Amino acid sequence: MKPFLFLTDLDNTLVGDDEALEELNRHLSQHREQYGTKIVYVTGRSPILYQELKTEQHLLEPDVLVVSVGTEIYRDGSQTPDPAWVEQLSHKWDRELIVATTAHFSDLVPQPPSEQRPFKVSYFLSGEAAVEVLPQLEDLLEERQLDVKLVYSSGKDLDILPRGGNKGTATAFLRQQFQMPPEQTVVCGDSGNDVAFFQSGEERGIIVGNAQPELLKWHYANPSINRYLAKADCAGGILEGLKHFGFLE
Ligand code: GLC
Ligand code: MG
Repeated sequence: MKPFLFLTDLDNTLVGDDEALEELNRHLSQHREQYGTKIVYVTGRSPILYQELKTEQHLLEPDVLVVSVGTEIYRDGSQTPDPAWVEQLSHKWDRELIVATTAHFSDLVPQPPSEQRPFKVSYFLSGEAAVEVLPQLEDLLEERQLDVKLVYSSGKDLDILPRGGNKGTATAFLRQQFQMPPEQTVVCGDSGNDVAFFQSGEERGIIVGNAQPELLKWHYANPSINRYLAKADCAGGILEGLKHFGFLE
């Protein structure tokens, strides 16, 4: 067996079925010990909400923690975000102008202060309002020459991110650092902010059985043999996918 680079979303992907999570944890920690497999958590949560989840769930200590939808990378338990990644995202990012632009839309309800991050501006937005608001907001941001991406997840969360800062670009950055080829890299997710994980189509992708409609819609519109849609939910679906791709026996 060869080492692989394992990247997974947390909420409703890794976490959500405690029993399956225990089983997956056993497999992953053994693989890490025996073959040097790397475990990376890639979540929409801020560092604060990640710490909160850690007190509620049995999570392994990851080799790398990526929070705020790919915009902050922490290696080996460090408290300082990877400076090269910060530098890369800083270009053309104007947080104040983004916030001023969103003020034109009364349907956008700011998420708590903990979820407002250096490279992430987040709101709650209902699915109903999103249909009208998202294209209008996108146009206005573009008019103001803001090089950003709108990411809508789970019918309620809107994140505004630098165009180059998402789960997919963070994966590519780490793959290069670990010198891991795409066929030895696997990404797992369940919702809209995970689309970027699967977008390059080079890595092996696992979508858990309980995925959100927005991700499933994208999945069916962009077929790839490198992507596996699991039958089981959460960690059970990850285990199923890891076996499908031959990462686990
Ligand atoms: C997490 C974050 C939230 C974000 C959402 C979707 O729930 O806490 O800020 O909007 O993920 O990315
Ligand atoms: Mg999720």
